[in-house]
Amino acid sequence: MGGAGPAIVFEDVWKLYGSGPAASPALRGASLEVESGTLTALLGPSGSGKTTAIFLAAGLDVPTRGRVVVLGWEVSGRSEGWRRRWRRENIGIVFQFFHLVPTLTALENVVLAMEIAGRPRRGRVERALELLEFVGLRGKADRYPQELSGGEQQRVALARALAHDPPLLLADEPTANLDYANKLRVVELLREAAGRGRTVVFATHDEKLASAADRVIRLVDGRVVEA
Ligand SMILES: Nc1ncnc2c1ncn2[C@@H]1O[C@H](COP(=O)(O)OP(=O)(O)OP(=O)(O)O)[C@@H](O)[C@H]1O
Ligand SMILES: [Mg+2]
Repeated sequence: MGGAGPAIVFEDVWKLYGSGPAASPALRGASLEVESGTLTALLGPSGSGKTTAIFLAAGLDVPTRGRVVVLGWEVSGRSEGWRRRWRRENIGIVFQFFHLVPTLTALENVVLAMEIAGRPRRGRVERALELLEFVGLRGKADRYPQELSGGEQQRVALARALAHDPPLLLADEPTANLDYANKLRVVELLREAAGRGRTVVFATHDEKLASAADRVIRLVDGRVVEA
């Protein structure tokens, strides 16, 4: 389990939200492979299924039909408890809307992620400071989220997602609502985070940003299309 082979495999994945006639497929037979160690962009317009695909790859949800294999583990069909434990070990996520804890400082947000992942108490603060240094925010470690700009909050969310050193980092529109300079900066950080045994996937609707990735996977209407 884990190790060699593609980081993510989707085989004919369908995801329907709701049921009966109101059910709308967010993914309609999507098949894809993400190569290990790469920076891969998931490109598609609003509503094409990017967030759904990220959630399935993270084991936050399971497909209605089809297989999802991540880091060598078949994630589809597993119980919620299994997926939660597996996710804690293997997955870092940057959500579309950062989800920082507003009552904790930047540093505390990153340290909390290590606590949740069960990392040893010793060295947590040092490691969190290193990560904040990596995203250029060591000097603002003691600020609360509302005292940070949108771009800075986004970078704290990235530091937090890397806190437990996950082999797979999934970032959903990590550059949304940022100006272009900050967008490029975040993609540059994702590039640095990829490689050396770590795979990074980011969802975006921006062609130009996607082109900064090693590989682009295009989603249209819940299906993967050739470039
Ligand atoms: N919880 C839900 N219940 C019902 N429909 C949903 C739900 N989540 C998403 N959908 C629908 O599934 C489709 C795909 O949504 P998804 O969020 O995956 O798209 P996206 O590519 O991430 O879009 P965006 O770029 O706007 O974030 C959309 O038609 C959306 O309306
Ligand atoms: Mg989305």
